[in-house]
Amino acid sequence: MTVTAEVGRWDALFATRTRGDVGDGIASVLALLGVPDVISFAGGFPDPDTFPRQRVSTLLEEFAATDEWSAFQYAPTRGLAGPLDALAERLEALQGRRPAERELLITSGGIEALELVGKTFLDRGDLVVIEGPTYLGAIQSFRRFESKLVAVPVDEQGLQVDELERRLTAGLRPKLVYSIPDHQNPAGVSLSTERREALVELARSTGFLIVEDVAYRELGFSEDALPSLWSLGPDVVVQAGTTSKTFFPGVRLGWAVGPADVTAQLVAAKQTTDQCAGALGQRLFEESQRRGWIDEQLVRSRALYQRKGDLMLEALGRSMPEGARWTRPRGGFFSWLTLPAGTDSAELARRAAERGVGIVPGSLFFPDDRGGDSVRLSFSLVDEAQITDGIERLGSLLRP
Ligand SMILES: Cc1ncc(COP(=O)(O)O)c(C=O)c1O
Repeated sequence: MTVTAEVGRWDALFATRTRGDVGDGIASVLALLGVPDVISFAGGFPDPDTFPRQRVSTLLEEFAATDEWSAFQYAPTRGLAGPLDALAERLEALQGRRPAERELLITSGGIEALELVGKTFLDRGDLVVIEGPTYLGAIQSFRRFESKLVAVPVDEQGLQVDELERRLTAGLRPKLVYSIPDHQNPAGVSLSTERREALVELARSTGFLIVEDVAYRELGFSEDALPSLWSLGPDVVVQAGTTSKTFFPGVRLGWAVGPADVTAQLVAAKQTTDQCAGALGQRLFEESQRRGWIDEQLVRSRALYQRKGDLMLEALGRSMPEGARWTRPRGGFFSWLTLPAGTDSAELARRAAERGVGIVPGSLFFPDDRGGDSVRLSFSLVDEAQITDGIERLGSLLRP
């Protein structure tokens, strides 16, 4: 007997919160990119050339040859002691503050850290301030808890903290303010030091929790990182981190660090997601950190992404028409392109796909109806040799 799936069969049973159109946007864009030979500025994936294949193989052989068992066993929910210590050491070296034992937990990627924060803090109708534009995964994650999202604009200096302050003065009362202060996804901008300090002060005076996402923090093209929000305000910040862009995403590893009473709740929430982040990935990360391999990998990754980013910016300068402008990232994976007046980014994405170029329309990075005049361009995964050609094809669609 053949059983065919009936579309819509389960709709009436889906939870109310899952019946919306969340996720359709990105699916329709990715469908356009199923075309072979596309030059894609769409995905935000790391370049596989950065993956530490040989070193992972060395470590696996070592684990197999010795009496290592922890890599193969369940781990405590907060994380294995060794990897927690290695991560704490890394945070101290890079952010100037070592988390206390009860302040840190290892998660299954940065997205899980956001999910655990949502699970812990958000009831239906609760207010979350996000940056406009922001990471699509965060929009989707916070929406799953039926929260209300309010996007405060970003400019070249990151989140407009003075605008947030105005809205707070006018009565806005968010539980959470989510920010990506370094080389933001999707806009490629970083929050200035003054604004970081002001944001932390606002959290203290108003009583919201800052959720700091540091996914691209270690991928600055120069060494001089600005102080993390968590280092400035460990009493009012929970930081969500990931090793996906600095190690490799196949291990699905990240962290949350914040006030001990907050992370205790995150640990409790994690017991019903995956119970613990995979021990194998934790041990691979620990050994790589202790041997200095993560830092070595980062030197090469930063150089690669800077080269690609520079190529893309040069190409934009040559190919974009009057009226187009774009951000100049100093790290990370993205530049945000604002189109000449009257150009619709969704329509442009469709036409670009027909010409073999993948881009993501800006509207996907807002919770409201903004972003129709912008697109996100990612330079992380695109083949270096194709960057100039891809941007020129895009420019040709925009020039009169
Ligand atoms: C801003 C931001 N946060 C979090 C993540 C999720 O990272 P992970 O792979 O660790 O879940 C990403 C991935 O693209 C991201 O861009």
